Order: sequence, then structure tokens, then C-alpha cells
Amino acid sequence: MAETELRATMSDRKLPGDPAPYYEAHVFCCVNERPEGHPRGCCKKRGSERLRNYMKARAKELGLDGVRINQALCLDRCELGPTMVIYPEQVWYTYRTIEDAEEILQRHLIRGERVERLMLQPTDKVPEDLKR
Ligand code: FES
Repeated sequence: MAETELRATMSDRKLPGDPAPYYEAHVFCCVNERPEGHPRGCCKKRGSERLRNYMKARAKELGLDGVRINQALCLDRCELGPTMVIYPEQVWYTYRTIEDAEEILQRHLIRGERVERLMLQPTDKVPEDLKR
């Protein structure tokens, strides 16, 4: 089965008798830490913990009751981090600043838009402007 075929299949597995989603949106923010000098780097050393804490506190402050902001360990896209993925949409973002986090909250989670400049595509590796 081709990879794109598999992705479509995996995305469409909801069945009529399945329970309703518990959260409207479930956000996983990588806060994984790797040892100093690891070739892939890690989200924590790029400030992910502060960004995740901001997302969580701000979601509460904004009254986003159906939104759950969770910390996650490695999401295996370390070079592009800090990374997050939002379900049920399965949209991935890389975000580096509090302003990025706020924009994702305001546009994606509140207005249902996308923050295109921060979105990660399945084929994204390490864009030149994200190398650090
Ligand atoms: S350390 Fe964050 S994706 Fe691997």
C-alpha cells in the first residue's frame, strides 16, 4: 500500500458507533530533552517548555474548555522543533516564540484557521531558515 494511501486510510478510521471526541482539540507539544551535543538536537533546548507552559496557561485564561494542551516526549521531528501537533486535524507546527504560540491559539484553536507560515508538511526536513 502506498504511503499516501495508508495516510488516507488511517485518517478515515472513524466508525459510526465510535464515541464522540472527548476534546474539541488536543494539542501535543514536544518538551523532550536530549543529551548535550546530540546531532538531532531537541525541542526542550529550543525553549519548548516555556512555550508549552504559555499555551496551557493562555488556553485556560482564554476559557478554551474543549482544548487540551499536553506535553509530549519526542514526536520524531526534532530538527524542526519545537514541534506540536493538533488533533483531530493532525496539523503540525513549528513554533519558536510566544508570539508564534499566541498566533496558533488565536487563529487555529479559536478561529479554526491555519498559521501557514508555521505549518509543517510531511515532507519537511530542515528548512534553511530554521537551522540553528
Ligand atoms: S525532541 Fe521534539 S520532536 Fe524530537
